[in-house]
Amino acid sequence: MNMKIIAFDVRFDELVHFDKIKKSLGLEVVSTEDPITKENIHLTEGAYGISILAYAQIDKEIIDMLRKNGVEHISTRTVGVNHIDVAYAEQKGMLVTNSSYKPDGVAEFTLMMMLLSLRKYKAAMFRGNVNDYSLIGLDGKEIKGSTVGVMGTGSIGAAVIRLLSGFGCKILAYSPTGKVKPELEPYAEFVDLDTILKKSDIITLHIPLTKGTKYIINKEALDKMKQGVTLVNCSRGELMEIDAMIEGIETKKIGALALDVFEDEAGIYHQDRRTDIIANRNMAYLRQFPNVVMTQHMAFFTDNSIESMVKCSLESFVKASNAG
Ligand code: COI
Repeated sequence: MNMKIIAFDVRFDELVHFDKIKKSLGLEVVSTEDPITKENIHLTEGAYGISILAYAQIDKEIIDMLRKNGVEHISTRTVGVNHIDVAYAEQKGMLVTNSSYKPDGVAEFTLMMMLLSLRKYKAAMFRGNVNDYSLIGLDGKEIKGSTVGVMGTGSIGAAVIRLLSGFGCKILAYSPTGKVKPELEPYAEFVDLDTILKKSDIITLHIPLTKGTKYIINKEALDKMKQGVTLVNCSRGELMEIDAMIEGIETKKIGALALDVFEDEAGIYHQDRRTDIIANRNMAYLRQFPNVVMTQHMAFFTDNSIESMVKCSLESFVKASNAG
């Protein structure tokens, strides 16, 4: 197939999949580990499409430059598309596609975040590292008998609900679109935003980041929640207003916070920044609390998902050319 693709932000673990899949599809793919920038955008001259990850902002300026270079198709190897000005790209006649991967990796990671928050695993692990095997202060809570609120009922939220259904808890579900999924009704009660905030002991976020959902978990939302609530976010950092989360931890309104994502994580997460000065005070401050667990946006990071992300992205170019 005579179609040139430039793949940006290609990680070491993706290379083997790029090699295999591009061969099987007969695509010409030039890959670089660098994110797309104004400085390297010349690489896209004459290319049909680009394949990207989540950390470069594909804004109006980049879209105009891509269009000028003849690029017709932006394919992100992520599920989320919040890093792309999709409306503008489409207005410029470009096709924007995202990837899909099975939700199980993120759903299982979410359950792990819930369990290790409830069982105070961070504090227990730190103690073990210095041969402190005491129990005081490590008394935890069980999922069984609690009320878990799942915000977002797309494929990941639905997979979380199914996993939770084995734990003997009450499950509340909230969908920002207001749509009830009949297949989830045996496991979860669909409720409105106020109810899920007020009634849940544990709240987990699986909604996409849009203008309407940005900072959905803010001070006002937190005020409605139960004292000692456990919050888990494996979706996007910007769903939470971080100052409100800090206050929630300081005042003990939040019992535990588990974050796989963080506002302004781009340039930090997925990088080795050990010897650098990192200018993100909130990230450093929150990380030191014993009841805050933070991971580097890795809920998706399983062998199955990595392969699917690359496959979906490269296949989307072939599908588009067959369709058009
Ligand atoms: C997504 O697929 O939306 C993710 O969060 C994965 C990550 C590589 C940005």
